Parts: sequence; structure tokens; C-alpha cells
Amino acid sequence: MALIEVKVPDIGDFKEVSVIEVLVKPGDTVKAEQSLITVESDKASMEIPCSHAGVVKELKVALGDKVAEGSLVLMLETADAAGVAQAAPAAAEPVASVPAPAAAPAPAATPVAVSVASSAPAVAAPAALPAHQPGTPSGSLPHASPSIRKAARELGVPLAEVKGSGFKGRITLDDLQGFVQQVMAGDAQTAAQKAKAPTAASVGGGLPGLLPWPQVDFAKYGPIERKDLSRIKKISGANLHRNWVMIPHVTNHDDADITELEAFRLQLNKENEKAGVKVTMLAFLIKAAAVTLKKFPEFNASLDGDQLVYKEYFHIGFAADTPNGLVVPVIKDADKKGILQISQETAELAKKAREGKMSPADMQGGCFSISSLGGIGGKYFTPIINAPEVAILGVCKSSLEPKWNGQAFEPRLMLPLSLSYDHRVIDGAAAARFNVYFASLLADFRRIVL
Ligand code: COA
Repeated sequence: MALIEVKVPDIGDFKEVSVIEVLVKPGDTVKAEQSLITVESDKASMEIPCSHAGVVKELKVALGDKVAEGSLVLMLETADAAGVAQAAPAAAEPVASVPAPAAAPAPAATPVAVSVASSAPAVAAPAALPAHQPGTPSGSLPHASPSIRKAARELGVPLAEVKGSGFKGRITLDDLQGFVQQVMAGDAQTAAQKAKAPTAASVGGGLPGLLPWPQVDFAKYGPIERKDLSRIKKISGANLHRNWVMIPHVTNHDDADITELEAFRLQLNKENEKAGVKVTMLAFLIKAAAVTLKKFPEFNASLDGDQLVYKEYFHIGFAADTPNGLVVPVIKDADKKGILQISQETAELAKKAREGKMSPADMQGGCFSISSLGGIGGKYFTPIINAPEVAILGVCKSSLEPKWNGQAFEPRLMLPLSLSYDHRVIDGAAAARFNVYFASLLADFRRIVL
């Protein structure tokens, strides 16, 4: 029997790192190479293994301590007296961040190429997850890299309950995400038994590594009033959140010259004064969108697993601002309707929306959406795609701008366009072409009939 000092080995470029996890406690029997603590720098986290087998007699570090090469980690009682002489810290041996074998060839710190945003405190465990107390492991430790342990800690996931699918049963990020998703779905036991890789489409429930939402006592700083979100805001908020997180979207900005179109619209309104239908810019945008979608069918499609569903109808939604929040009524078969009819239908639907009288049928079946802030202002924005659609066009307020006509600058009425698209379905070049074609229709509306 001998009492030896176990120290932090050579940990490469890391001069001073924080102890973020203590994996053993006095009285624990540890094997050689077993991880004792996890340390974290601003770039990576790594485990410090034990140089010998033995029994932990005394811990010399605690959570939050700063350690460096040579720092004392713990006192270990070993059975092997001969080992005492060799109880020097082993040199660091970096290993890749892919699941490593359960036992490293030599006791060495195990840096993992995980990006660590900061040394902020661990994220509080979501209420639905079983509580997990870092630093108080029970029984044998599951095999997992420091990055996985860190993610598990932040999510409050007890790693002992997660089934590893990696090499020698090592727990992978997919295993962790699968577990979290199943627990969130209310089936912790199944999760523990069947942890499995989530599909790309289902990732998004658990986002390891995110900081908790800031909790601020606003009343400390001044008077406040609390109001429940409206029903529409709750529903649209959840949809917007999902769409923002799950769709890899890009926005392409362009301008359309609507000088002649606006003059035409004003003329039509003068002629139609008595008819009572106001011809709106939105109606031209909806009509032009239907025609552009015919030319670019992938914009009139939806993703369904590995398939793209091309729609042969052209139903265009438009965002309508109401006192209770945003709704998206749909103009059905916009390709088959004239500008007057579309103007009338949008006015009726917008009125219904503001009065809270929309039926589900008024909002269903959309293929593509337009969000027009033209009557309000702004220049460009990044509208969120209305899933399962794959693109949305944002339109802002038109303004007179000097444009070079080859001989001189002349004032032209320019309409800012912002097309957000699902990059899984639509390439950047196609989006640019869509905007260019759409703008060309607005610049000369006669092209609509070509
Ligand atoms: N540029 C400059 N002026 C514009 C314009 C544009 N792109 N679009 C409309 N206008 C002007 C119109 O000429 C009109 O002016 P007027 O009253 O002097 O005639 C005024 O703005 C109102 O336009 P109108 O055509 O009556 O309504 P609209 O088509 O602009 O808007 C809705 C109808 C339903 C789209 C609109 O009420 C709405 O709710 N917009 C907000 C949508 C939204 O919140 N989107 C954000 C989603 S993230």
C-alpha cells in the first residue's frame, strides 16, 4: 500500500484551466486511466485521467478551481508500491473528438475539439428532465467524451441512463439528443432503453450548449405591467420559432422598378372610383408571384422527407397585420384571377382578419407567401418562411431613386424586395433569378401575358 499524489499531466497549450466537473469522491475505487476531473479552457474541455489504480483518499481540487500542469488533483492509495516511483504525470496525448476507445493507450488528458462559448454556469435542467447532480457520480461512469458530458450536464441528462451507440458503447451526441427528445415527449424510460439517433428533420427539440433564458426582475428597475400573449401570438410564435430554427434560410434582396406600374394602378383607381374596388399594389404582387412560380416550380413546392412535392395550383398567402397578431389569409388560384378580383379578395380577407372572423379554410392551402410592409415603411427585411412552403417574399415601401438611363439620372419608383428561401430546396442562383424575373414583370406588367 502506498499513498501517491495524482497531478495534472502535460495539457499542452493550456496554462490555467477551470475544473468544471469532479468525477470521483473520497472512497471511490478507480482504475488506471479512469477520468478524475474535467477541465475547461475557453477553447476546449478535457478529462484528466488517473495515473494508477487505487482508492481515492482525499480530493485536492473542487469545482471552479483553476489548475495547470503539475497541480495536485487527489491523494490515491495504491496497492502497487512499485508504482509509486513512477507516479509522475503522464504526457498529454491529444485524441480526436470522434468517439474514442473506452481506454486510452496511456493516461493522458483528453482534449476534445468542442467549441465552448464561455465558462458560464451550467444551464438549468428543463423541468421535464430528470435531475442530475454534476460531481456526484454513482457506480461506474458511462463512456462519453468531455463535450458530451458537458452537453449532458447542461441539459441535466443523467448519462448513466443514456444508451451509447458509439464504439464500445460510447455515448454520442445523437444518443444524447435522442434521449432528450424522448424525455421531452414524456417517455423517459423508453428513452433510457431506446436512445437512438434522431433524424435530421427532428433535431431541434434540445439545443445543447445554449445559455438559459435571462431571468430579470424588471420591477426592480421601474413600474411594469404583465399581459398574456394573444392566442394568435402564441400560435404564430410557436410556428415562427420552428420555421426559423428548422429551415436553413437565406434572403435575397433586390429592387423592382414600379414607376409605370404605380402610374397604371393610380389610373385604374381613378377609372374605378365608382366601382368601389381599390386596386392595390399587393394585388399586382400576388399576380406576379403566381406567374413567377409557374416559371420556377421549385418555389411552388414543399419538402416531404426525401421528396419534393410540386404543386400545380397557385395559392398565394399574404401576411395581414391584425390587432391580435399576424395571420396569413390565402388567395386561391391567383394565376386564374384578374387584378380587380385579387384586390377585392385581399381587401375582404384583410377585413375579416382584422375583425377576427377568419375561418381555417381562409388560411389553408398556401403555396407561397407575400409579406408587404409597403404601406408602413422600411427598406428590406428577412421574412420567415411559412412552412411547409419553401419561400416568402417580403416587400417594403417604394421610394423615388435616381437611376441612370444611359444618358442621365432620372427619378424611378423602386420597390425593395426580400426573398427568403429554403436553401435545402432552392439554390442561391435560382433565388436571384426568381427576384430578377419577378422584378421584370413589375417593371413591365405586359409580360404577365407572355
Ligand atoms: N410602397 C409604397 N406605398 C405602398 C406600398 C409600397 N410597397 N404598398 C402599399 N402602399 C401604400 C398604398 O398606396 C396605400 O396608400 P394610400 O392609402 O395613400 O392609397 C397604403 O400604403 C395602404 O396600402 P393598401 O394597398 O391599402 O394596403 P396594403 O396592400 O399595403 O396592405 C395588408 C394590406 C393586409 C397587407 C396590410 O394591411 C398589412 O397587414 N400589412 C402588414 C403585413 C405584415 O405585418 N407583414 C409582416 C410580416 S413579418
